[in-house]
Amino acid sequence: MISKAMSESLTTHLNFELYSANQYLVMSSYANEMGLKGAANWFMVQYREEMLHFMRFYTYLTDQGVVISIPASKAVPDSYSSLLEMLEITLAHERIITTCINDLSEQAVVEKDHATRIFLQWFVTEQIEEENNDRDLIAKLKIVGDNGHGILMIDAEMAQRVFVVPAGSPLAV
Ligand code: FEO
Repeated sequence: MISKAMSESLTTHLNFELYSANQYLVMSSYANEMGLKGAANWFMVQYREEMLHFMRFYTYLTDQGVVISIPASKAVPDSYSSLLEMLEITLAHERIITTCINDLSEQAVVEKDHATRIFLQWFVTEQIEEENNDRDLIAKLKIVGDNGHGILMIDAEMAQRVFVVPAGSPLAV
């Protein structure tokens, strides 16, 4: 049994996850056009992870008998000045998502909705990793600055990222 308030909050967040996926898909396309194939791969993996996050919320809500709604999504920016800017936007966005997950967790605690609190725990941990990955790349990009060779080395590192479906994940993408 999930409250109307909790199901509405989770549905709002499900839409944030979809926005995240859209954002990273556009960034992948933009990086590809910049000639940064590794960064394009990194953002594509990020897109696929976000679709999995979306599907986790979808599955949880439908298992609770909630019909989801997907209002028209906010347009995603499609122009960036650099890879560094894309990653700074990514980190700022992920920090907002972390705050949202914490707020949802707090709501679940206040409502004594332990099923939702436990469901959200995976995301609490996931957000630490997401922010850490972004910070790491931003730090490296700041070190290399405008040095093309340095940027290409980071791009090569970003090419190594692979999409791994965690055990027990709902099927997505
Ligand atoms: Fe689904 Fe990047 O948080």
